Amino acid sequence: MIAVTGASGQLGRLVIQSLLKQVDASQIVAVVRNPDRAADLAAQGVQVRKGDYAQPESLVSAFAGVDKLLLISSSEVGQRLAQHQNVVDAAKQAGVRLLAYTSLLHADTSVLALAQEHRATEAYIRASGVPFVLLRNGWYTENYLASVGPALQHGAYIGAAGEGRIASAARADYAEAAAAVLTQPHQAGKVYELAGDGTYSLAELAAELSRQSGKQVPYVNLSEADFKGALMGAGLPEGFAALLADSDTGASQGGLFDDSRQLSQLIGHATTPLSVLMKTVL
Ligand SMILES: NC(=O)c1ccc[n+]([C@@H]2O[C@H](COP(=O)([O-])OP(=O)(O)OC[C@H]3O[C@@H](n4cnc5c(N)ncnc54)[C@H](OP(=O)(O)O)[C@@H]3O)[C@@H](O)[C@H]2O)c1
Repeated sequence: MIAVTGASGQLGRLVIQSLLKQVDASQIVAVVRNPDRAADLAAQGVQVRKGDYAQPESLVSAFAGVDKLLLISSSEVGQRLAQHQNVVDAAKQAGVRLLAYTSLLHADTSVLALAQEHRATEAYIRASGVPFVLLRNGWYTENYLASVGPALQHGAYIGAAGEGRIASAARADYAEAAAAVLTQPHQAGKVYELAGDGTYSLAELAAELSRQSGKQVPYVNLSEADFKGALMGAGLPEGFAALLADSDTGASQGGLFDDSRQLSQLIGHATTPLSVLMKTVL
């Protein structure tokens, strides 16, 4: 049996849909903290089990009989290490034979503040003795496309990534990669650096937005502090605004770049180009 945690989230749902193309639904376990939000998955024949990262006992029963487990990193930044440790401990107790973890691109050397919890989780997984595979996911293209609406409204695309080149891919590409490692043999011990085939700077993203929308939307590069302030002005909570601004500064230093093409090799086709996803968003 293959289990996916965070299965009611955006990535988790895409992983389940990818798995359903290769594995019978009865062999898939969707682990969610609120089973009411996964009724659609149950309707597809997937086993839905309750598992809350903050409630260790719920995880042990959720993982009963599971051979391979995908731990989708928690969205509760700051609490993630303790939560992930609970998942790893429960996986060990349940006798899981392969633990896949969605980490961050180049987590071991990344300058992004977000990398800290991923680094610590990776170390905990390595020390646990549970066979593991690390999916070091790069940026979702969707993260940057979330700003397309405000950019069109205000006539500028803002950020703090400078000339940094970004090798992002669609969430669906990373989901396919996760499904691949859960269904292909000989994955234990592998560390994948997953990123998009194509790269762009935010100025190039703004140029593509201008081309597709027919409106002139220049890229305006701000300092990290000014970008954080602008995000807070748009209504984002301070902690989240700080993380996004820090990530952009990291991108300016190459933190979101990778040219190894391991993602397209793993999924067997090119990753989704920025222009294609942008068209969908527009
Ligand atoms: N690479 C990137 O660009 C990028 C961007 C954003 C996030 N991420 C990371 O990748 C993960 C997946 O991305 P996503 O887009 O699918 O995020 P998402 O839609 O926010 O999904 C996060 C999932 O984590 C679950 N979760 C949070 N706290 C939990 C807890 N205490 N117990 C059990 N489940 C819990 C959520 O459950 P509910 O459905 O009940 O809320 C949700 O299913 C994120 O959580 C984050 O760690 C990566």
